[in-house]
Amino acid sequence: MAKSSAVINSIASYLPEKTLTNHDLTKLVDTSDEWIFTRTGIRERRIAADDEFASSMGAKAARKALEQAHLSPLDIDLIIVSTMTPDYLSPSTAALIQRDIGATRAAAVDIGAACSGFVYGLTMVKAFIESSIYSTILLVSTEKNSAFVDYTDRNTCVIFGDGAAACVISRDGHGLRIKTTHLGASGEESDLIQIPAGGCRLPASSTSFDDKLHCLQMNGKELFKHAVRRMEEAINICLKAADVPASSLRWLVPHQANIRIIDALAKRFSIPEDRVAITIDMFANTSSSTIPIALEKLQQTGQIASSDLVLLTAFGGGLTWGATLLEAT
Ligand code: UT7
Repeated sequence: MAKSSAVINSIASYLPEKTLTNHDLTKLVDTSDEWIFTRTGIRERRIAADDEFASSMGAKAARKALEQAHLSPLDIDLIIVSTMTPDYLSPSTAALIQRDIGATRAAAVDIGAACSGFVYGLTMVKAFIESSIYSTILLVSTEKNSAFVDYTDRNTCVIFGDGAAACVISRDGHGLRIKTTHLGASGEESDLIQIPAGGCRLPASSTSFDDKLHCLQMNGKELFKHAVRRMEEAINICLKAADVPASSLRWLVPHQANIRIIDALAKRFSIPEDRVAITIDMFANTSSSTIPIALEKLQQTGQIASSDLVLLTAFGGGLTWGATLLEAT
């Protein structure tokens, strides 16, 4: 019997209504639209309302993805949620989404791979489906970064935005087939991007609160150096496993952390600008949600044709990185 494939049947995003522009940020920190746009490619980002959370945004994206796939929540076997901004340390955001959408048959688990979480999630989904453990999986990336960003720190507050996306992935069927995938990690550089307090190492205290240690801290310059190299490495391994040259790629959908990182990466694989999905200008860095949001926006243009090869690549805290090759069926 031929081996089953994992196929992304539907993909949908949810972006909060409120827009925070670069101009708005100039009222909060010493920055300018010119600096932010030329150094990052960002023009604006979305910010979740006070009563919106990783779970509620994820649930909204999930309902849309299920509707598009013509499936009921009861068809879902497993919910995997990627988030670095969960509603709670425990219970998992996946459990809350399972409750909110009424997927009572589904198992539920969160994964923590920071900005690489979607690619990590796809890799797990591929393994679960190809081994026939599960048939239909909901993969959700959802991030309320604004809850962890210090809006007096110009190193971080200009970069991040909020948003969610969800995919229904099933055995075979129509959509984007997961062909090959590769993941990497290096805990040696775990201090380059972190939220220091709130875990068991530095539990919440008045001191941690005063020192803003529950906010995201980032060494952008150092991360930049690792980002291009690690994603390039993952792409090469992923393409080699599929026995596909980079020249066959129709689309590149990279993590949206910085337009200069994306441009450098595309150049290394000679992928022209009009074949790279870019959403950073509108939505900034939504951590693990950037790739599925960009993939959804690309799909909505109607430009992904049958048998197109679509390469996803991610890099983020951990450090973590990865690449996944999809083929449109
Ligand atoms: O999501 C996954 C993980 N994250 C990443 O991959 C992020 C990768 N890193 C980056 O995208 C970039 O490093 C940043 C966008 C974060 C920063 O850009 P940069 O070109 O590396 O800037 P820098 O930190 O080297 O700072 C250059 C200058 C400094 O001033 P001096 O020392 O040269 O006078 C900063 O103080 O720019 C200054 N600066 C700013 N100026 C205006 C830093 N942030 C800002 C700002 N507005 N927001």
